Parts: sequence; structure tokens; C-alpha cells
Amino acid sequence: MGDQKTLYVVVCAAGPASEVGTLVRLAQGRGWTVQVMATPAAVSLIEVETLKKQTGRLVRSQHRAPGDPRSPKADAIVIAPATFNTINKLANGIADNYVLDVVSEAIGLGVPTVILPFVNSAYASRAPFRESIKKLRTEEVFVLIGLGAFTPHEAGSGSSVFDKFPWQLALDEAEKTL
Ligand SMILES: Cc1cc2nc3c(=O)[nH]c(=O)nc-3n(C[C@H](O)[C@H](O)[C@H](O)COP(=O)(O)O)c2cc1C
Repeated sequence: MGDQKTLYVVVCAAGPASEVGTLVRLAQGRGWTVQVMATPAAVSLIEVETLKKQTGRLVRSQHRAPGDPRSPKADAIVIAPATFNTINKLANGIADNYVLDVVSEAIGLGVPTVILPFVNSAYASRAPFRESIKKLRTEEVFVLIGLGAFTPHEAGSGSSVFDKFPWQLALDEAEKTL
């Protein structure tokens, strides 16, 4: 058990958030200890109690209260699904919630970080978003968007592609960094 690696799974408020238990299950099956973290907007989209049972850890969305257990240090981070909003903020050094604080620092510390976006093609076509992806890649953050990774869907069609969200690609990428 001592050599188990810890993966932070960071959930944002995009369609597939409600299915993040799938990512947790796949990660645990590959030997990761999983700590789930959620943006404030994602909390109402996920099953906090189920994820707590699944991981044996509190879902973190705010700074620790005195006496709450510390999260183990991350060996890697996967942000999935990652929103337009969080990707842009992260790329531009905005840290106005708990997960942005954690991930911003982790990138600076060199913790391997993988972003699996879920955005429609309208969001994806925006200049600020394209710039954000470039900036993050310059910082050696893995952004899994494009051919062979997440491909943006047409605006308004998100719910029809939830079940094709390629959670496993994020884990494949995280594993390559070990
Ligand atoms: C029902 C619903 C679905 C949404 N789906 C997406 C989505 O697929 N991708 C996305 O980037 N934003 C989506 N949004 C918008 C984000 O939830 C919104 O930008 C929010 O501020 C993101 O917060 P976060 O990045 O802190 O999680 C959706 C919003 C709602 C209400």
C-alpha cells in the first residue's frame, strides 16, 4: 500500500461531472489512491456522499477546516471534465477557488497535470480559450483536446456525447508521467 500513488481528480461544472465516479473507478483499478476535488459550481452536479464512500476521502471544494484531514500529496492531477471557465482561469493565474489554488501551486511545483476538457465547438473556437491551451502547454500541462483526444461537440449536443467522454485517456497520460 505504501507505494500507492495519489491522483487528484478535479471536477468542474460540465456535463460529464455527474459521471466522475467512472474515472474514480478506473483510476482505482489502475492502482491509484484517489482524492476528488470539485469546483464550487461542480459540487451540486456530483454525488458527494457516493464519491466519499468510493474513495474513503472527503470530496474537497474548499480549504480545510482545522482538524479536517490533510489530503495526501498528489503524484499527478487530472482535471476532468475541465470547463472553458477553469481552463481560462488556470492558464491566466486566477486562483479564486480552492481547486484553482491547489492546481496553480501544483503546476508550479512540477506535479504532472492532465486536463481533459468538455467544451462545445463554440467555446473551443474562442481566441481566449485557444490562447489558454497554448499557455498551459508551454507550462508542460497536458491538454487532451484535438484529434485522438477530446473533440469538441456541436453547441447544444453535449448531453448526447456524455457517454463517449474519454476518461481513460486522462489516466493513460497521467501514467506516462510516473
Ligand atoms: C447545465 C449546465 C451545463 C454546462 N456545461 C458546460 C460544459 O459542458 N462545458 C463548459 O465549459 N461549461 C459548461 N457550463 C458552464 C459552467 O458550468 C460555468 O461556466 C461555470 O461557471 C463553470 O465553473 P467551474 O469552471 O468553476 O466549474 C454548463 C453550465 C450548466 C448550468
